[in-house]
Amino acid sequence: MSAVALVVAAGRGERLGSSGPKAFVMCGGRPMLEWSIDALRAVPEVEHVVVALPPGIEAPAGTSGVVGGSERSHSVRAALHHTLAGDPVLVHDAARPLLTPEIVRACLAGLDADADAAIAAARVTDTIKEGDGATPASVARTLDRDRLWAVQTPQVFRRDVLERALAQPHDVLAAATDDASLVEAMGGTVRLVECPRENLKVTTLVDLHVAEALLAARRP
Ligand code: C5P
Repeated sequence: MSAVALVVAAGRGERLGSSGPKAFVMCGGRPMLEWSIDALRAVPEVEHVVVALPPGIEAPAGTSGVVGGSERSHSVRAALHHTLAGDPVLVHDAARPLLTPEIVRACLAGLDADADAAIAAARVTDTIKEGDGATPASVARTLDRDRLWAVQTPQVFRRDVLERALAQPHDVLAAATDDASLVEAMGGTVRLVECPRENLKVTTLVDLHVAEALLAARRP
C-alpha cells in the first residue's frame, strides 16, 4: 500500500482567539501541526504528506505545501490535486494534535475491500437530544445513544471516491463539515473505526489546555 496523507492546516482558528492560524498555535512546546506530521511520518505505508496551508507559510520539513481554500473542503481538494500519486488518501485535520501512528494504521486497515472510506470515530458517552430549532429550544427527540459516534479525523478514502466527492459544486462542498458526508451523500459505504476520545479537535482554549495536558502525560 502506498497512501498519501493530506493535512488541512489553512483554517483561521477564530474560535481559539489566536492572532495567527490555529495549526501554528503553540501546543505542548511546538506548533500544533507538527504533532500530526510526526505521527503520519512514523507510518511507512504513508509515502507522502501534503499540507494545505494559509498563504505565505512554508511547508514543514518532509512535507509538500499547497495554499488552502476558503472552506475546509476546498483545502482538502487543493491538497488532493497537488499530487496524483497515492491511493488510498488519508485526510487529517491539523487541529487534532493527539493523532498517533496506531490510529493512522487502524484507519488504513479499516478500509476493507467493500468500503469506500474508513473514518476515525469515538462512541458517544453523553445522551444526545435533537432540538426543534425554535428559540427557546425544546426537545424534539432523544437519539439512541448506542448507535451514535462522534466523528474525528483521519478519514481514509479510495482516491477515485474522494475525487468524485470533491468534484461536487462549490456550495455543496462549503456546507460539508467532513469529507465522509460527501461520500455518504453519493451512496458510498463508510466504515467507522473506533478510536480513543483523546484524539480531540482543538477548537477553543479549553481544548488547547486539555490537549497540552494529554501530550504532557505521554512523555516517558
Ligand atoms: O475550523 P475547524 O476546526 O473545523 O477546521 C478543521 C481543520 O480544517 C483545521 O485543521 C483547519 O486548519 C482546516 N481548515 C482548512 N481550510 C479552511 C478551514 C479549515 O484547512 N478554509
